[in-house]
Amino acid sequence: MYPINRNRRLRTNASIRSLVRETIITPNDFLVPLFVVEGKSVKEEIASMPNYFRLSLDLLEKEVKELWSMGLKSVLLFVKVPDQLKDNKGTEAINPNGLMQKAIKTVKDACPEMIVMTDVAMDPYSIYGHDGIVENGLILNDETVDLLTEMSLSHAEAGADFVAPSDMMDGRILSIREAFEDEGFFNTGIMAYSAKYASAFYGPFRDALDSAPVDLKNIPKDKKTYQMDYANRFEALRETELDIEEGADIVMVKPGLCYLDIVRDIKNEVDVPLAVYQVSGEYAMIKAAAEKGWLDHDAVILEQTYAIKRAGADIIASYFAKDVVKLIS
Ligand code: PBG
Repeated sequence: MYPINRNRRLRTNASIRSLVRETIITPNDFLVPLFVVEGKSVKEEIASMPNYFRLSLDLLEKEVKELWSMGLKSVLLFVKVPDQLKDNKGTEAINPNGLMQKAIKTVKDACPEMIVMTDVAMDPYSIYGHDGIVENGLILNDETVDLLTEMSLSHAEAGADFVAPSDMMDGRILSIREAFEDEGFFNTGIMAYSAKYASAFYGPFRDALDSAPVDLKNIPKDKKTYQMDYANRFEALRETELDIEEGADIVMVKPGLCYLDIVRDIKNEVDVPLAVYQVSGEYAMIKAAAEKGWLDHDAVILEQTYAIKRAGADIIASYFAKDVVKLIS
């Protein structure tokens, strides 16, 4: 008898396809990145991220209420810092009345059960656009870790549920965890950007926060001495395992689509939740192609979201979170 197996049987119609579908997306999968600016009633579209906005605190409040009503229950906060508050020490990053600290309180007041995660890195606060203190053309590691630790404590004091160090300095997870334990923030978690690659896909994000490395003599023009080389695979596992040993509750791979091999490698090896960040450049590419009529926006964002989850993501940080939730509900 020929053929014995007809694999198409399980694809005959939408009902059977949904019955045997291996990967399911729900609003619980998403972490929503949000960009915050000073001012009132400010909603600025980011040029290289169409339909994505910087919001002032009053509009942030409205946004998180809308997210909550859609079943989106966690946010990742980033702030755009005015130039006059930037320096080479991250002074503004630990201001208890700084924009990030206010944003944390705003979200918690508007939506107490919303999980608030905060970006911990120096770049939005740095006159040089680097994630660390710069001296003699070098990005200092240990001095930067001290700042990141202070910054994390400041976010915890303001009410953050998780801090998310995105800087790739060595040893920062242990330093932050110890400080949290010492200061009684036992339940404040750490989502570590563990395998964060030096990627050209962060361009639009740096437009959003005005945080790109500056073009000055004796200042590194890229982040390759701290973010990972995209040619490397095993190093990602080493970074991730170290972060877990140092106390990370959640680990992350970033960017998303180009790094799904890394996502699967890590998923197969570690047992803490794994987040994947579908970054700004991935968003921009889809928007641009869709604007030209070259790709079907909704079909492509669904396909990419499923691909990220199928590869092993437990949490997906995505600028498409709201779009995807509308499409699946
Ligand atoms: C900063 C930071 C970056 C992103 C998240 N945190 C940019 C960078 O490292 O230069 C990128 C996010 C995105 O592109 O969507 N530490």
